[in-house]
Amino acid sequence: MADDMSMLRSALQKVDFFYSLNFSELDMLIKSLKKRKTKKGEVIINQGEIGDKFYLIGRGNFSVHVKKGMAGMQRVADLSDGDFFGEMALVTELPRTATVMAEDSGELFVLYKKDFKKILLSNQRISAIITEVLAKRRASNK
Ligand code: CMP
Repeated sequence: MADDMSMLRSALQKVDFFYSLNFSELDMLIKSLKKRKTKKGEVIINQGEIGDKFYLIGRGNFSVHVKKGMAGMQRVADLSDGDFFGEMALVTELPRTATVMAEDSGELFVLYKKDFKKILLSNQRISAIITEVLAKRRASNK
């Protein structure tokens, strides 16, 4: 248990924007995150579905695919250690904008919508970073 906590702490240090959380916020975050191992080819998010989880990549490579009319599915991005995904549906309340797939075996930290809003969106700096990334991603999918 204590080992799990220190592993989680060191994984979270890879995520730049967590520096703006204070100790009690960081503790709350650590207690709310659930670790999930992933396998190559596993689909984590399906475009069009309703979303209730936010994901932080502890380890591994994940590809992002968007349906684009006649062109079918297009790979629009690759994400890895310290990146996050799944923020859009939670912020906009719209269906998932893309399909996200594991490219190799990895490890994700999952945060439920209620805790994402309580811990991350309530922090001004983090909320600003998430909103900025979201806007860039949305623009690049057009
Ligand atoms: P969401 O729409 O909730 O679910 C799919 C996720 O894929 C989305 O949130 C983003 O986190 C991620 N995503 C969508 N488009 C891009 C993109 N162009 N670049 C990186 N990530 C993206």
